[in-house]
Amino acid sequence: MKLLIKGGRIINPAENMDVVGDILIENGKIAAIGSSCPAAGAEIIDAAGLVVTPGLVDMHVHLREPGLEAKEDIASGTRAAAAGGFTTIACMPNTRPAIDSSIVVAGLTQRAKTEGVVKLKIIGALSKGLEGRELAEIGDMIESGAVAISDDGGHLDSTRLLKTGLEYTGMFGRPVITHSEDEGLANEGFMHEGAVSAVLGLKGRPAVAEDIAVARDIMLAEYANAPIHIAHVSSKGAVEIIRQAKQRGVKVTAEATPHHLTLTDEELRTFNTAFKVNPPLRSAEHVAALIDGLKDGTLDAIATDHAPHAFEEKDVEFRYAPSGFAGLETAVGVVLTGLYHTGKLTLPEIIAKLSYGPAKILGLDSGVLKVGAPADITIIDTEYKWAVDCIKFYTRGKHSPFESRNLKGKPLITIVNGSIIMQNGEVLK
Ligand code: DOR
Repeated sequence: MKLLIKGGRIINPAENMDVVGDILIENGKIAAIGSSCPAAGAEIIDAAGLVVTPGLVDMHVHLREPGLEAKEDIASGTRAAAAGGFTTIACMPNTRPAIDSSIVVAGLTQRAKTEGVVKLKIIGALSKGLEGRELAEIGDMIESGAVAISDDGGHLDSTRLLKTGLEYTGMFGRPVITHSEDEGLANEGFMHEGAVSAVLGLKGRPAVAEDIAVARDIMLAEYANAPIHIAHVSSKGAVEIIRQAKQRGVKVTAEATPHHLTLTDEELRTFNTAFKVNPPLRSAEHVAALIDGLKDGTLDAIATDHAPHAFEEKDVEFRYAPSGFAGLETAVGVVLTGLYHTGKLTLPEIIAKLSYGPAKILGLDSGVLKVGAPADITIIDTEYKWAVDCIKFYTRGKHSPFESRNLKGKPLITIVNGSIIMQNGEVLK
């Protein structure tokens, strides 16, 4: 089968490519990229006025399988990913049981083949049962295909365990991903600590809790000479600590989320639980620092931290609601509206952080457009105007801080291994 994507603006960050041209797909692989490719016998996608990018990669997703399928599972989560323009996602291990053994990694990999519509990579737990006491079967999980190791969802208190985990994971050339918030300081806080939390009378999670944890985690990685990736960076101090560590040559990478890049704690004034997340939404100076960090390369990736919860779990009084919300289906629209249409980041910069950047961190061969490579491609209309409607999401998580917002920019087509799996918002598998 042949597919020709014709006349689109092709952005391929791995090669600094930004040209108008065609991409020919044959038998699931990219057969040619050029100013004009032969159309004979091919189904044609007219991409004039659209942006053609490597299939987007989200390195931070909670799929909730196994055990928490009321919130999400591989079938619903990978469909949400396809709707959002992602062709590869990596799922976090805070499931029940936790993804802490090679059996669970192998089982999920198998399930992804039958249930999934996009490519699924698995992140294994650092500690058994995510309890922070004993190392999980890190080597076995990596041999079974785990691409990184993390106790995400909470901070790993034990410096000893993180040090050993970094040393061990680093031997396989894989990163440990940390949720860096000092529990002693942040614990039981509901939102960013600052003027708004004081007015609302809600216990805060101070930015310094993140700064301290990021500094500690980076010091351990530096000592172990092992790769570390800091998840969902949200504080100005953390950005600066990561910047300095990179300058010293520490093997540190980091991500920011669409919500931390575009929203502030002012939103919490409504007590709407859709804005409750860890780390919390912070103040405008932190948001500005994150954008600077993306721009100067301190932050390598944009990742959603897609954290769906069942509707009734979030539909409770603010303090009782779980943290997190759906992110896969709004990410591209939010980032284009908040960062591209405002002139804060260029389109190639944004696409790099959503494809090549995260793929490189996880050691994947995706996130690039290359002749001979699997045809994982996303086609985006940067000018498409739409309003977020959570009820229409493919994810089971029907809460979003962007509910009812008008966004500009949307993925129109998602292609995995040369097959169109999403077109005009509809997932076809
Ligand atoms: O708000 C959050 N929810 N932050 C996390 O790090 C974990 C996530 C979840 O799993 O629900």
